[in-house]
Amino acid sequence: MSDTKYPPSAEFAANAHIDAAKYQEMYDASINDPAAFWGEHGKRIDWIKPFTKVKDVSFDLGSVAINWYSDGTLNVAANCIDRHLATRSDQTAIIWEPDSPDEDALHITYQQLHDNTCRMANVLKGLGVKRGDRVVLYLPMIPEAAYAMLACARIGAIHSIVFAGFSPDALGARVNGCDAKVVITADHAPRGGRATKLKDNVNQALLHDVDDVKCLVVKRTGGQIAWREGLDFWWHEEAAKVSAECPPEEMNAEDPLFILYTSGSTGQPKGVVHSSGGYLVYAAMTQELVFDYHPGDVFWCTADVGWVTGHSYIVYGPLANGATTIMFEGVPTYPDASRFWQVCEKHKVNQFYTAPTALRALMGQGNSFVEKCDLSDLKVLGTVGEPINPEAWTWYNEVVGKGKCPIVDTWWQTETGGHLMTPLPGATATKPGSCTTPFFGVQPVILDPTSGTEIHETEAEGVLCIKDSWPGQMRTVYGDHERFEKTYFSDYKGYYFTGDGCRRDADGYYWITGRVDDVINVSGHRMGTAEVESALVAHAQVAEAAVVGYPHDIKGQGIYAYVTLMNDVEPTDELRKELEKWVRTEIGPIAKPDLIQWAPGLPKTRSGKIMRRILRKIAEDDFGALGDTSTLADPSVVDELIENRMNRG
Ligand code: WT7
Repeated sequence: MSDTKYPPSAEFAANAHIDAAKYQEMYDASINDPAAFWGEHGKRIDWIKPFTKVKDVSFDLGSVAINWYSDGTLNVAANCIDRHLATRSDQTAIIWEPDSPDEDALHITYQQLHDNTCRMANVLKGLGVKRGDRVVLYLPMIPEAAYAMLACARIGAIHSIVFAGFSPDALGARVNGCDAKVVITADHAPRGGRATKLKDNVNQALLHDVDDVKCLVVKRTGGQIAWREGLDFWWHEEAAKVSAECPPEEMNAEDPLFILYTSGSTGQPKGVVHSSGGYLVYAAMTQELVFDYHPGDVFWCTADVGWVTGHSYIVYGPLANGATTIMFEGVPTYPDASRFWQVCEKHKVNQFYTAPTALRALMGQGNSFVEKCDLSDLKVLGTVGEPINPEAWTWYNEVVGKGKCPIVDTWWQTETGGHLMTPLPGATATKPGSCTTPFFGVQPVILDPTSGTEIHETEAEGVLCIKDSWPGQMRTVYGDHERFEKTYFSDYKGYYFTGDGCRRDADGYYWITGRVDDVINVSGHRMGTAEVESALVAHAQVAEAAVVGYPHDIKGQGIYAYVTLMNDVEPTDELRKELEKWVRTEIGPIAKPDLIQWAPGLPKTRSGKIMRRILRKIAEDDFGALGDTSTLADPSVVDELIENRMNRG
């Protein structure tokens, strides 16, 4: 961890929306009178019926309720499209950059975005989708993904995007979990020169579960697919039959905009529910201020719309601000490691936002891939998803940003809707590896993990909680408000518990130290160890499994699985490969264990609880710090596990 500070240049600060003095003044105002502050900033979006109430929030266990702008009405799609038409109908809203650089990019104007979104909305209505119904999107990164999101918002349907890398089983669980009426997908999804057969996956998922879900299919590659007569519809055929006008529904600020499934420390993924009004205000405000976005800038967030980053910073935030946003279908290393930088050059990107794992992978390929591209339009660089190591930060700063682009290390979560702690590029002196200071209205606190009391000293380390609400906060777990309360409000009463550990330094800067629960962060993606375990034990030859994270050079954390086989099953390399494949099919490639260790026994307490702390230490090669093993039912299993640990390479 480095304590070197990088202040914004005077020139950058002078042209920025927010400088250091303005940050302090606005931050103080946001904490002293949240209702006045957010009442003012709530006006940045268009309301059909203006709100009179700003904030109505309780974090009290048993009656957790989060309401913002609750008597206001609006339509999110109208905010992202229609309100810009008078001044920007011919401005590019979305630049679509395909997987292969040989295919042409598309420039979609706000008028075209309007027409295509309305058509998609009318098609969905024709398929029977009504206000409040759920629609699952399982799509490549193509413009139709944005049309579909906005079409749902336009008619008041709730979208739930499932990342196209998830398996049919995972997709099926999510379709059923929210009882979706329609799934929108594509024939095949090209990515990194390979194609995923999305429609086939949908067929498999739906066959397992509900058979009557209709499917709207976008023709992306023209590849072969199996068609379910009467249930499947081509998007291009249906679009030709409907009007390019569709009146936006008047929605309440608190009506759900979307559900997004995310992993937790226990059980199956939970459906995070975000609101319409507060979410949009927060996504739009953070996109503008955290990236210092100015009209005419070209903004590129490299995430996939299957994750919250894509929701807030490819679609809703930028479009609510009338921005030009890039949607990239491909991967950083295809056709080669200069792809990101070539796209930056080609589209004259001004703000670039990506994940540390991508930077580490590209850094390893050498500087020439960056240096051969003209990156002179870059103004601000962002990172998200996991702590960034100072080496990657420095490379980003020097090689990509040429020392002239502030780096915003944005800490947030699926649950928070938008950035909670981050530098503001014209205001905050950055430190490599620190997400620095809170955004407006955000009150981070560090609690002592055992006593649960707040540590008031500036220098502190403990668990990270947030003291009060912000408009972008999730509202509930879909269909399970009790789980919402239990997960986020029961361990530390009166606070929102983030699940992260954190250190605050002498300057009051925050440094995320990683998850304190059984969630691991693989390449910036969240994975519940319980999910991988339950996939493993679903295999007929597996008796028991325990999964932990371990440090991985590129991915941040890798997945380390301890597997106990059924009696009489021979542990072979073949079986190891089969289990890897098994997890890929059960969940998806991102959940595939990096290392599987055969474990004749797992360290358990006498009451049968697996002591993961010990398994974590073994996976980390940190045998000196195993702690007390005397409470184990059979302490000898630990020696066996150490002896046969997998080489991390
Ligand atoms: C978890 C949330 C929010 C979009 C991407 C991930 C970790 C996220 C940072 C950062 C250190 C970070 C935290 C958090 N995380 N951003 N800048 N520095 N850690 O969303 O899948 O909901 O995961 O990602 O551990 O709790 P997510």
